[in-house]
Amino acid sequence: MKLTFIGNGNMAKALIEGLVKNYEIEVFGRNRATLNTLKETIPQITVKTIDETEEMSGKNIILCVKPYSLLELSPKLTGEANAVYSVLAGTSIESLKSHIRAKKYIRTMPNLGASHLKSMTTITGDIELKESALSIFNEIGRSLWLSSENELDIATGVAGSGPAYLALVAEALADGAVQQGIKRLDAQILVQGLFDGFAPLIANDNPALIKDAVMSPGGTTAAGYAALERGNVRSAMMDAIGDAYAKAKELKEKN
Ligand SMILES: NC(=O)c1ccc[n+]([C@@H]2O[C@H](COP(=O)([O-])OP(=O)(O)OC[C@H]3O[C@@H](n4cnc5c(N)ncnc54)[C@H](OP(=O)(O)O)[C@@H]3O)[C@@H](O)[C@H]2O)c1
Repeated sequence: MKLTFIGNGNMAKALIEGLVKNYEIEVFGRNRATLNTLKETIPQITVKTIDETEEMSGKNIILCVKPYSLLELSPKLTGEANAVYSVLAGTSIESLKSHIRAKKYIRTMPNLGASHLKSMTTITGDIELKESALSIFNEIGRSLWLSSENELDIATGVAGSGPAYLALVAEALADGAVQQGIKRLDAQILVQGLFDGFAPLIANDNPALIKDAVMSPGGTTAAGYAALERGNVRSAMMDAIGDAYAKAKELKEKN
């Protein structure tokens, strides 16, 4: 299958690196120099700057521009594409339909893990494209089909924003270690190792069971855990998902 990327920034590069072994790839961008650099890094692809108009009939488009670029870009795209797979944050399928003509539409939300081919990507849209969308986005990590855009907006607050929340946890744990007298670099190594070992644990177990396995009666974990409860960390995390969802809905109305 041939895929047509529009945009050649960070997200496009991550996807192309994952997809190039199994798909024919052409990339449309607006900057000849960055397109040439991409072609030098991944010679199998073809690259092209977008002219006044570009015929999109029958193409399978992976839309990788910033949401605000749609307005400038869309008048240049003519014809009816076969499919649009969009990675644009906060841009509804209704909005995509008003900008680019296609038979079918998919909306996705990859996350920063894509840069290491470890994205947690959520996907929704025309059910006929479910299998092809999952195979495309499984190339940059793990992907999950959701049954509505509403669910995707909720999931965005978890997987999309999640790296920022986990970075806060990582930084705070390291700061706590430094506060108690551990060197900064050692604190960083401790936290990196912790996250590394936690990934397979959380992939295989319910979080409550992991917590119970570590927390012995009257022990150190129980003491630390009680401090987190006093700080309302659990409730703040739940509020973070609620507030991110509210913001996602607000942004979707604007786009
Ligand atoms: N990065 C993430 O972790 C992440 C996560 C989830 C979703 N997303 C979504 O992914 C999309 C892309 O993000 P990104 O981080 O890859 O952004 P980016 O690095 O800025 O890439 C955007 C690309 O689009 C190109 N572009 C802009 N306007 C264009 C136009 N009119 N015609 C052709 N090309 C055009 C840009 O060209 P120039 O080089 O000339 O500017 C650039 O190559 C965004 O909509 C974002 O919401 C990103």
